[in-house]
Amino acid sequence: MKVVIVGTGYVGLVTGACLAEVGTEVVCADVDAAKIARLQNGILPIYEPGLQEIVMRNQQGARLSFTTDLAAALPKAEVVFIAVGTPPGEDGSADLKYVLQVASQIGQLMDHYLVVVTKSTVPVGTAARVNRAIKESLVARRLILDYDVASNPEFLKEGAAVNDFLKPDRIVVGVNTMRARQTLEQLYRPFLLNGHPILFMDIASAEMTKYAANAMLATRISYMNDIANLCGLAGADINQVRKGIGSDPRIGKHFLYPGIGYGGSCFPKDVKALIQTGREYGYQLRILDAVEAVNEDQKRLLFQKVLRHFDGDIRDKKFAVWGLSFKPNTDDMREAPSLVLINSLLSAGAIVSVYDPVAMEEALNYLGSNVTFADNMYSAAEDAAAVLLVTEWNTFRMPDWARLQGLMQSPLLFDGRNIYDDVQLVKQGFTYYGIGNAA
Ligand code: UGA
Repeated sequence: MKVVIVGTGYVGLVTGACLAEVGTEVVCADVDAAKIARLQNGILPIYEPGLQEIVMRNQQGARLSFTTDLAAALPKAEVVFIAVGTPPGEDGSADLKYVLQVASQIGQLMDHYLVVVTKSTVPVGTAARVNRAIKESLVARRLILDYDVASNPEFLKEGAAVNDFLKPDRIVVGVNTMRARQTLEQLYRPFLLNGHPILFMDIASAEMTKYAANAMLATRISYMNDIANLCGLAGADINQVRKGIGSDPRIGKHFLYPGIGYGGSCFPKDVKALIQTGREYGYQLRILDAVEAVNEDQKRLLFQKVLRHFDGDIRDKKFAVWGLSFKPNTDDMREAPSLVLINSLLSAGAIVSVYDPVAMEEALNYLGSNVTFADNMYSAAEDAAAVLLVTEWNTFRMPDWARLQGLMQSPLLFDGRNIYDDVQLVKQGFTYYGIGNAA
């Protein structure tokens, strides 16, 4: 089967590479000529474990190719995925400009039956708009052609995207014809071998599933951040509480980690977009309003703890920030809570030194010369008044505490992800602040 994927961002690139990996012929198309030229030379626009190898292997095997020429890519294709960006508009709703442009273009270029699938995260009702855009193009060409639209949202996590695609928990597909269903069932057959289910449903439900899933996960995080803050006030230990509730299988142990707020390109954007969809239907999603509000506060929490410790005066003090990306195993800086923290520190007159094992180059675009980019986690901490652990990369998990203590002005640690053993650290002579403790 031949598939065309429009858009070589996270979702498009991972989808293309992984479909090629199981033997599908894949052409990835993008309007960004520089990006396509780099991809043709095996240079990826993102850091994602395992992706580079798969892209190279399948390019060499001629199953995966990259082009700016959608017209040349479409002949003989059976499925076209739209995987272009849906940046948030001013009111938080997903901007469908690019999705609809691609749909019109497909209508202008297609000459045989196609299943046109939205893979980008798009609000309920988008496939219907994609359908209209294709139809309008065909009408303009005075052409009658059979085609179907479908919705196939992606559930991959950055940092684990390849694995998530190759071993999905489930594949959700919204279709409204048997032909589209059979085509997509055939495409995904290699992924179903180990009992992973493919769930066919109507198109609106598939579109809604994606937002409902992300918003549910974001809700768990804000809920746990709220409970952690209360634990701090009430003298309870959130780590114990987390284990205590997570061992109930109805709750489950995943996504219960309090921290400095969720970030990334998905949760903040999708929660906002779903709230906005609610508004469009005259329905206020009150829980999600609260999820957002808690998250905004949580991103400022570590800074407030710092300020309180220093009685409000951190001018000219140096702080080491460990970790910049919004979570480990990615270089993605979009909506990273580290940015809120660093900007607050800088506004208060502090000096900031940062280290991240992968995201420094990307972070340069966001932070410029306002901070010092250190060579390693220890040099970042030299003469620092405190270390602030922001992203729980494995390299930060077991520091040489004695060495660190020798380097710093005073042994003070703010742990934004609760990864350290507070009792051990206090014994070591550190002053320790975590999320959900009294300070
Ligand atoms: C998320 C979803 O997990 C994917 O299923 C979905 O496909 C994706 O969005 C998407 O819509 O494309 P991702 O944004 O890559 O994936 O990252 P997550 O691992 O979900 O983490 C999101 C944020 O929540 C991070 O800032 C992370 O630090 C935070 N988080 C996560 C917590 O604060 N606590 C937790 O217990 C878990």
